Amino acid sequence: MALVQIEQIFPSLTWRIRHETMYPDQPFDIVKLKDDFEGIHFGLYADHKLTGVVSLFHEGSVYQFRKLAVLPNAQKSGYGTRLIDYILDFCKIQRATKLWCNARVNAKEFYFKFGFHETNSTFSKDGQDFVIMELILNYELQ
Ligand SMILES: CC(C)(COP(=O)(O)OP(=O)(O)OC[C@H]1O[C@@H](n2cnc3c(N)ncnc32)[C@H](O)[C@@H]1OP(=O)(O)O)[C@@H](O)C(=O)NCCC(=O)NCCS
Repeated sequence: MALVQIEQIFPSLTWRIRHETMYPDQPFDIVKLKDDFEGIHFGLYADHKLTGVVSLFHEGSVYQFRKLAVLPNAQKSGYGTRLIDYILDFCKIQRATKLWCNARVNAKEFYFKFGFHETNSTFSKDGQDFVIMELILNYELQ
């Protein structure tokens, strides 16, 4: 089993993983988000090799994650789960009230596992169907 480490990374480090995973046939620059330098980015290192990424953006206490990507040859090894678990902990520390994402419809089942539920908002972009999924974060009163 690989040694897994997750840490906050510089925005530009996400680009290659996003490209190879999600848009391998498209120009490299399409993976760059206008807001990337306002985001918080996390990288998963498997045996010291950057293998998965996810990016968090927030408006007040409402957080959105974008561009969750695990390199194709490393998928189904639990790394996507590790990244989601990590950002859920991060959101809790930040006292976030909601975490949401534009989910690719074919990845919907993956998010159900964490308690995300589908909203009524759906859309299509670049030939992909998306649905907004969200998780309301509740905290015990302390
Ligand atoms: C979606 C993605 C991030 C999941 O990461 P991963 O490392 O492969 O996921 P895990 O290995 O942690 O999978 C955990 C579980 O979800 C399941 N799963 C993973 N991807 C799935 C999918 N697309 N649809 C349904 N189930 C999926 C796995 O089978 C596994 O189930 P199990 O625990 O019952 O065995 C990864 O497949 C990926 O990068 N896909 C391409 C890009 C993409 O679609 N990103 C999401 C955009 S919304």
